[in-house]
Amino acid sequence: GLKKKEVNILCLGLDNSGKTTIINQLKPSNTQAQEIVPTIGFNIEKFKSSSLSFTVFDMSGQSRYRSLWEHYYKESHAIIFVIDSSDKLRMVVAKEELDTLLNHEDIQDRKMPVLFFANKMDLRDALSSVKVSQKLCLENIKDKPWHICASNAIKGEGLQEGLDWLQDQIA
Ligand code: GTP
Ligand code: MG
Repeated sequence: GLKKKEVNILCLGLDNSGKTTIINQLKPSNTQAQEIVPTIGFNIEKFKSSSLSFTVFDMSGQSRYRSLWEHYYKESHAIIFVIDSSDKLRMVVAKEELDTLLNHEDIQDRKMPVLFFANKMDLRDALSSVKVSQKLCLENIKDKPWHICASNAIKGEGLQEGLDWLQDQIA
């Protein structure tokens, strides 16, 4: 058959936002981890969709590891940025990290798609995806296609919608 197009995805966001849980859900069930632990440094995960072969760099969101992120910007074709919608106190920190990312010389002026997951939508005090996008000022992103999905990574809800959007952008 035809060889699937290879794409590198960079998965970013603050620690505890749910990045590893999301990536784990996107993998085939026989390769899924039973237990998710905080990421040290980063993990590389691979999975396929109908048309694409994904390599995901699942980065640690802990502040001491965030300096690693920029080393992977150049080789990435798309970004998944995960937000804990219930973490109102750190929404401003998430915005700061997003702004730093978008202003980086290896990201600026590139049309790479950015998929946002407003994750943990199951929690009672979670903000809606509209509210999260307002807090992060996503409407100011003019040079890249972007999309935000509410998600519950534990149940896997909202993830496929996001991945479908990403595939359409890349295909
Ligand atoms: P770092 O690797 O430290 O950057 O964190 P991470 O973004 O990879 O978060 P991780 O996937 O390790 O999840 C952190 C915690 O949030 C875990 O206890 C998950 O079970 C939990 N979690 C992830 N997604 C959801 C969700 O949608 N809802 C709820 N209620 N909990 C979630
Ligand atoms: Mg992780």
